Amino acid sequence: MPSSHSDALVFFGATGDLAYKKIFPALQAMAKRGHLNVPVIGVAKAGWNLDQLRARAKDSLEKHGGVDPAAFEKLIGSLRYVDGDYQDPGTFTALRRELNGARSPAHYLAIPPVLFETVTEQLAESNCAKGARVIVEKPFGHDLASARELNRVLLGAFDEADVFRIDHYLGKRAVNNLMAFRFANTFPEAFWNRDYIESVQITMAEDFGVQGRGGFYDQTGTIRDVVQNHLFQVLSNLAMEPPVDLESDSVRDEKVKVLKAISPIEEKNVVRGQFRGYRDENGVAKDSETETFAALKVEINSWRWKGVPFYIRAGKSLPRTCTEVLGRFRKPPTLIPDSLLVENHVRLRLSPEATVAMGMMTLDPGAEGLSLQTAEMVASHSPRADEMDAYERVLGAAMAGDRTLFAREDYVEQAWRIVEPVLEGHTPIYQYAPNTWGPDEAERLSPPGGWHNPGGKEAVAVASETAS
Ligand code: BG6
Repeated sequence: MPSSHSDALVFFGATGDLAYKKIFPALQAMAKRGHLNVPVIGVAKAGWNLDQLRARAKDSLEKHGGVDPAAFEKLIGSLRYVDGDYQDPGTFTALRRELNGARSPAHYLAIPPVLFETVTEQLAESNCAKGARVIVEKPFGHDLASARELNRVLLGAFDEADVFRIDHYLGKRAVNNLMAFRFANTFPEAFWNRDYIESVQITMAEDFGVQGRGGFYDQTGTIRDVVQNHLFQVLSNLAMEPPVDLESDSVRDEKVKVLKAISPIEEKNVVRGQFRGYRDENGVAKDSETETFAALKVEINSWRWKGVPFYIRAGKSLPRTCTEVLGRFRKPPTLIPDSLLVENHVRLRLSPEATVAMGMMTLDPGAEGLSLQTAEMVASHSPRADEMDAYERVLGAAMAGDRTLFAREDYVEQAWRIVEPVLEGHTPIYQYAPNTWGPDEAERLSPPGGWHNPGGKEAVAVASETAS
């Protein structure tokens, strides 16, 4: 097991889409911060040479965040390239040569899951796995059985402690801030439980479609693409108990407990939708039943949460791009008639900006009598240009051997167990018009008080502090 910092980064899929959109920008940012002091070896089967990969890196940066001349030079200087088929042992002999004696490389599999097994076995056989870490892109498996099989393959070549399962939501500061909000402050503990909270909803809305990823998406769907991983991580951060210490396994133990307390989803608690026009996308089957929208209801059978429904909703081609959590409070035992009460809530926005807002009932200053409005006290923080992106953070953490930002085997399996009953697409798929909040049928699952559509009519802000 390598305990030190990785001394080389190998990324398979160097000419692919993920490298283009996310990895080169993350690597340049690491170089800029002085965090990239090891050789970076791209591997792909494209018939390319190193100069072509360098040109691709430049193009990627021009489109995604811009070229920083000094950092780019550094990145280009560290870059190496191995071209070859992943089935061919010769590719791995060439990789071994490029590793040039590195003792604890990190191998990042930014490749389609069907290739994980081949690459892992070749890494082991070529002696490139010894002392190494492996970083695996999501989705980790396709269901519970395939995730177990993938674990078996990976654990044949690496120790669990050296397997880093990426879920870039774990690298998002705003997601980690959920834990800071809950465990660095005293007051949330007083209300963040079944005694005070009536329901919690998590919405991940995206105002774009599948962006040329039709082939991938049609095999995946919303539940596999973002619910089983990203949104369950948000759910775990919201629902977990405080860890006994800050060790990565202590934090991950608490997250697993949340998932263990959730039963497999029943079909009646899921609504799937597909935006009109999806079937015309490249790579999408004309009769596709894959969902581009999902709404789910789960219950966490724990001491803290029993009886509190948690709603998760995610979709493509919705009216805006925003991820937000809304916890609604139970009604107070007040003498004010129910019909006059409005809403009391906690709103936690994760993107595009990070916001913590407390919504409370106040007298409407523009009206007379007992007319109430929800006013919000807001703390909000817009991302700064120099802020670490999630990919930069998770790659840096994997290379440093910090496992906190990665999903453990048992967690991934629990997450699949929960969604397994609705993965096979037996539930109906309802069409919805692009730029709407999903199919009307989602109303069937509607939380008490209704779905909260982020960025809609916001409550009045009574005080606001915005860090620049
Ligand atoms: C990816 C999904 O994992 O996350 C995409 O495959 C989704 O479909 C993306 O758009 C969202 O990530 P972010 O960081 O933009 O919220």
